[in-house]
Amino acid sequence: MIVSSRRISLPSPDVTARLATALAPKLGPGDAILLEGPIGSGKTHFARALIQARLSLDHAPHEDVPSPTFTLVQTYDTGKVEIWHADLYRLTHPDEVEELGLSQAFEQAICLVEWPDRLGNLVPDNALTLAFSQGDKSDERWLTVTGSPDWREKLDPVLAEIVHEHPS
Ligand SMILES: Nc1ncnc2c1ncn2[C@@H]1O[C@H](COP(=O)(O)OP(=O)(O)OP(=O)(O)O)[C@@H](O)[C@H]1O
Ligand SMILES: [Mg+2]
Repeated sequence: MIVSSRRISLPSPDVTARLATALAPKLGPGDAILLEGPIGSGKTHFARALIQARLSLDHAPHEDVPSPTFTLVQTYDTGKVEIWHADLYRLTHPDEVEELGLSQAFEQAICLVEWPDRLGNLVPDNALTLAFSQGDKSDERWLTVTGSPDWREKLDPVLAEIVHEHPS
């Protein structure tokens, strides 16, 4: 599979949320976003903004989006599409991925997965990987975006706008 990477600066939580909001309308059933990065790097912050933006776009009621730290999975139904938000940090064996119903969700829902390394060989094909890391300043994060040309086509205009407004 051909994949390519690019790296951009996210200078504040608001910019991260704006990126998530801009990506929300471009997703559909079967799209998976793997959210990588250490504790506190912004994975849930990104997922929350994306889910709330998509609920709003699909005219669904606003919902709180808690971190799925303990539940492992939280699901949302916008009326048009299901969104699965998973945090697999506490997963002890990839067999649990099946038990959680994630394999099926990868085919039918929009899936946002924190700590995707726990998936082992169940990582879905053609996922978009967003890897967050700490920047120089406390509120800055670096984001490395890795995905297929299909993803690049969806993301490039969104990333270009952010880079234009916040050159690093
Ligand atoms: N540029 C930024 N982008 C995203 N979040 C940021 C940024 N700057 C500061 N933050 C803050 O960093 C924190 C990120 O917390 P978050 O829960 O999203 O981390 P996480 O990566 O999901 O961690 P965990 O692995 O524990 O689930 C939030 O409090 C957020 O406001
Ligand atoms: Mg989190």
